[in-house]
Amino acid sequence: MGITLGLETSCDETGVGIVADGVLLGQALASSMDEHIRYGGVVPEVAARAHLESVTSCLRQALADAGVALEQVDAIAVTSGPGLASSLHVGVSAAKAWALALNKPLYAVHHVAGHVAADTLQHGPLPDRSIALIVSGGHSSLLMLGDLATDPIVHLGDTLDDAAGEAFDKVARLLELPYPGGPSIQRAAESGDPAAIDLPRPLLTNFSERQRYAFSFSGLKSAVARYVQLARRTGEPIRTADVAASFQEAVVDVLISKAVAACRDHAVDTLLIVGGVAANARLRAVAAERCLAAGITLRVPAPRLCTDNGAMIAAIGDLVVRSGAKPSGLDFGADSSAP
Ligand code: KG4
Ligand code: ZN
Repeated sequence: MGITLGLETSCDETGVGIVADGVLLGQALASSMDEHIRYGGVVPEVAARAHLESVTSCLRQALADAGVALEQVDAIAVTSGPGLASSLHVGVSAAKAWALALNKPLYAVHHVAGHVAADTLQHGPLPDRSIALIVSGGHSSLLMLGDLATDPIVHLGDTLDDAAGEAFDKVARLLELPYPGGPSIQRAAESGDPAAIDLPRPLLTNFSERQRYAFSFSGLKSAVARYVQLARRTGEPIRTADVAASFQEAVVDVLISKAVAACRDHAVDTLLIVGGVAANARLRAVAAERCLAAGITLRVPAPRLCTDNGAMIAAIGDLVVRSGAKPSGLDFGADSSAP
């Protein structure tokens, strides 16, 4: 049995996870979210300083949680990109120091592959072929997956503008709801009517062949902005709950419709939904309903495994190690805009 330790620092969460043979042994997470709230978004320098301050205590906590001694770790995996450069640099430097001190192999892994691998900790190995919808603050993509450790991930489509999580965050700001916007909108939407405001479903019915699996959320955000401006001009109260529910419904409708269509078009019967936005309760409910109707097996990890964490990096690291891949050495850099 090999024990792989994973370190994630690509944005504002410092996460360490420990995985052996596809089983999560323990993890620890620290977040600088609270420090970013007053700025309405992540401030890279603040996030990097917070990673530096908490990376060692996260390591200690994860080892204690797993009941594993540092010397028992067989391999180390670290997010090398994509993400905020200054945040990635802290994690990559720490992981290199640990690998050097312990004389253990180090593997540079991709953040998005980590999000997908997180699901295997809960639902076991992936089938030979599956499709993943990754929806986070930085990504909205439909991906065709084979073997996670050895096959390239094929992009079916991406967002043309804002990522889904970014759209949640921007619309929350328009509605003066606190950062991060996703959970705020979900909470506000609970008491709203999803059919109250007629919002567009961008690229859902009207798209070119190239846009079949593409997303676009900036028009949706502009439609909400226009509604808010009009209400302010006419002195009408802004119906925050109704706007939140209508916006959430539009995003969810587009995401799930396209994901189900991608599965149908490619004759794939397993859909994974991963990334921070996969924590959204309405998205999970609509996905479950539509996948059941379409005969698709749906895999969505628990919310704690959806948002950034160290377990997901240990999970992809563990798969890569077990595939027999060569370690990355100690000379790689961080790639903030890794494709
Ligand atoms: O995966 P993640 O933790 O970090 C990135 O890699 O970006 O995703 C963060 C994003 C944020 O935009 C946040 O607003 C969104 O995920 N998010 C949600 C929910 N929880 C987090 N969006 C919708 N509903 C949620 N419950
Ligand atoms: Zn992420």
